[in-house]
Amino acid sequence: MTTLTKTEGEKAPTGPDSFLSVRDLRVRFSTEDGIVKAVDGLSFDVERGKTLGIVGESGSGKSVTNLTVLGLHNPKSSTVEGEILLEGQDLVTASEKEMEKLRGNKVAMIFQDPLTALSPYYTVGRQIAEPYMKHTGASKKEARARAIEMLTKVGIPQPKTRVDDYPHQFSGGMRQRAMIAMALVCDPDLLIADEPTTALDVTVQAQILDLLKDLQQEFGSAIIFITHDLGVISDMADDLLVMYSGRAVERGSVREVLREPKHPYTWGLLSSMPRLGGDTDQALNPIPGSPPSLLNPPSGCPFHPRCAFTDQVSGDRCSTERPALGEGRAAACHLTAEQKQTIFFDTIQPRLR
Ligand SMILES: Nc1ncnc2c1ncn2[C@@H]1O[C@H](COP(=O)(O)OP(=O)(O)O)[C@@H](O)[C@H]1O
Ligand SMILES: [Mg+2]
Repeated sequence: MTTLTKTEGEKAPTGPDSFLSVRDLRVRFSTEDGIVKAVDGLSFDVERGKTLGIVGESGSGKSVTNLTVLGLHNPKSSTVEGEILLEGQDLVTASEKEMEKLRGNKVAMIFQDPLTALSPYYTVGRQIAEPYMKHTGASKKEARARAIEMLTKVGIPQPKTRVDDYPHQFSGGMRQRAMIAMALVCDPDLLIADEPTTALDVTVQAQILDLLKDLQQEFGSAIIFITHDLGVISDMADDLLVMYSGRAVERGSVREVLREPKHPYTWGLLSSMPRLGGDTDQALNPIPGSPPSLLNPPSGCPFHPRCAFTDQVSGDRCSTERPALGEGRAAACHLTAEQKQTIFFDTIQPRLR
């Protein structure tokens, strides 16, 4: 975490451990209906070898943010502003050739659906071997041995024969493992995992999460772990970024945020989560209302139309003034520090038990 302070509107300097540093990122899509502000002034850091969890409801800009980090946004329909600094290199201004050199090598991604990454027409082994040959210059034989080694690491049984299987011959959980093998084959410094276990049943999900943790220990990769599930995050991440409407609304270490969340949206996410080991029939409390339009986002705080606490803020600040997210442990909300603390411990936390 950076100890440097910044004044509003200035670019925050990159902290010493910051491996990836995103500053004031804005991603817009031109559509028939108008401009979609998918990411609207987002800043965050990822430390080397650490895991940053990003949570938020569907449509909050999690995937667009990370596809942009990989340079996979469509430049024809989108505009990108701001900075994405990977060890000081700005990826926003990098050429497609430079991005191709980074992708699969220094930075890799695993998706919710392995079939977006795996081609049905090539064997699993070939798809793991190919990026390895491309980025390391290894021979075919070496790359095949590496593919078998990776399949072994991710727990595919009989890797020496399964290496010649096609993706459809694998189960869903095995395809997910194969995609992880493909992503890690070049030992990337940054792995982006976008809802990697959402489509899997609970047992397989737990196995894949354990696998990712083990591989991170071994490879030392930094991970951006995207999910809408705060339960998964508490298990996986060191730091947490809560996104809403293309912005960061809360940030801190996972421990700090889960112990004392400070943003009404985070309170809502926690209240809408099923309790671990709790009664499965219990009524959950979904956040009332729906996520805002990104074509015409609300003025002021984007969460104010759904927030139950705007009457505790003087005047109409919530609907007119966009709250800033400070540095370090912070929440972008106009409630005072005392109000956040009192509301959480007096009204929110008792309902979570
Ligand atoms: N190619 C695109 N054209 C127009 N709008 C898009 C495009 N891709 C994503 N969006 C919009 O950007 C917003 C953020 O999407 P996304 O990052 O996928 O959300 P999340 O991953 O948090 O569910 C959504 O409103 C989505 O409809
Ligand atoms: Mg997504």
